[in-house]
Amino acid sequence: MSSGPPEVVRTLAQVETHSPEETMAFGRELAKEVPPPCVVLLEGELGSGKTTLVKGLVAGLGAAREEDVTSPSFTLVHEYGSAGKVYHVDLYRIEDGRELGTLGLEELEAAETTIFVEWGEKLGHNVPTPCIRIRLEHLGSDDRRIVVERVET
Ligand SMILES: Nc1ncnc2c1ncn2[C@@H]1O[C@H](COP(=O)(O)OP(=O)(O)OP(=O)(O)O)[C@@H](O)[C@H]1O
Ligand SMILES: [Mg+2]
Repeated sequence: MSSGPPEVVRTLAQVETHSPEETMAFGRELAKEVPPPCVVLLEGELGSGKTTLVKGLVAGLGAAREEDVTSPSFTLVHEYGSAGKVYHVDLYRIEDGRELGTLGLEELEAAETTIFVEWGEKLGHNVPTPCIRIRLEHLGSDDRRIVVERVET
């Protein structure tokens, strides 16, 4: 793994939630921190709650209802909002995200969009910054730790 440019990381929030509803409610609040243009990387094992959190974030941005936000793991990308202002990407099935280059993220940023990327760590250093990185951790049963960081290079 090549080392990229030095990162400046600031922790914006660290919470524990105890239900999917609580995670979605946190996402709705957190939406204030991701106005476009913004790339949001979501990291965490299978079932840690990445999609659940994005439901709240997309709803908080006013782009779709929570129940209409579903996992893009088969389709790679979902688009929400009347003018395609919010994208939701899932890189789970991608073998080596670095081969994707930057996914055209710079163009999307210029277009005033917010982009959520599940398995965002697969992009390596191909991320236009500043961006938000969210790490989710399964603490057992319905408990999850969620750490939100702003990353600048
Ligand atoms: N506190 C919690 N926060 C989020 N989800 C929770 C919580 N407690 C239980 N869950 C359950 O955990 C599962 C999380 O699934 P979700 O699809 O959001 O995870 P994911 O990280 O996107 O998984 P994948 O890697 O498969 O995309 C859901 O079934 C949800 O109901
Ligand atoms: Mg998911």
